[in-house]
Amino acid sequence: MRLDLCTWPEVEAYLQGSNGVIVPTGSTEQHGPIGLIGTDSLCAQDIAEGAGALCGAMVAPVIGYTPAPFNMAFPGTLSVSAETFGQVVGEVIDGLVQHGFRHVYILNAHGANLEPLQAATGSKPAAVRIRSWWDFTPVNALRRDYYGDWEGMHATPSEVAITQYRHRVVEAQDLDPPEKLSARYVRDHAGDRHGAPDAHRARFPDGRVGSHSGLATPQQGRALFDAATKAVAEDYAAFLETPASGS
Ligand code: NI
Repeated sequence: MRLDLCTWPEVEAYLQGSNGVIVPTGSTEQHGPIGLIGTDSLCAQDIAEGAGALCGAMVAPVIGYTPAPFNMAFPGTLSVSAETFGQVVGEVIDGLVQHGFRHVYILNAHGANLEPLQAATGSKPAAVRIRSWWDFTPVNALRRDYYGDWEGMHATPSEVAITQYRHRVVEAQDLDPPEKLSARYVRDHAGDRHGAPDAHRARFPDGRVGSHSGLATPQQGRALFDAATKAVAEDYAAFLETPASGS
């Protein structure tokens, strides 16, 4: 159930039976030549909604303006500082708490959000759980089966496949594989630790970082979406059983 499609009496009624809510976090940034600018936000929002439908959870609007400074040399990317993002997240949680929510489940879809999310949610008077949609074993098994190492680090075929299934297919037109990343590069740049915008674009001219987006299909996207929604719904249900104060 989407918070933004509810009336206030419906939210009040929901709170009589549950104090849980899912907050999706994404990004607004380039995702290579066939990936949509909103890929992360769309994945987070759609998987949250799908999970919410399975387990009866309320789903807040996606927080889609997040840190992506390294992608600012690609048109369409919109980045805010980690501080601003963390402040927005913190104040959104404060508002949810004010209304009676005590279990806040953050469903993330953008690596650079993780550190500011941890920092912003550490001391809230509600239980907070942070998960990225790719954290779950069944989802990872599919990613490995479908794409192996070509999943890469950015504009991944798995996230592109989910948006193809849910929104739109941009024709690949014989998209070549991107440059293969070294194990060292992957290790040094985990959590989206990429460099200055111009240097990042010069290094990865079409925006993909080791990810062969051209392998994505809507059918795979459907399987990934189904696995992720099921895993998130189960994890959310378990989260509701944890104590409401502290994390
Ligand atoms: Ni992404």
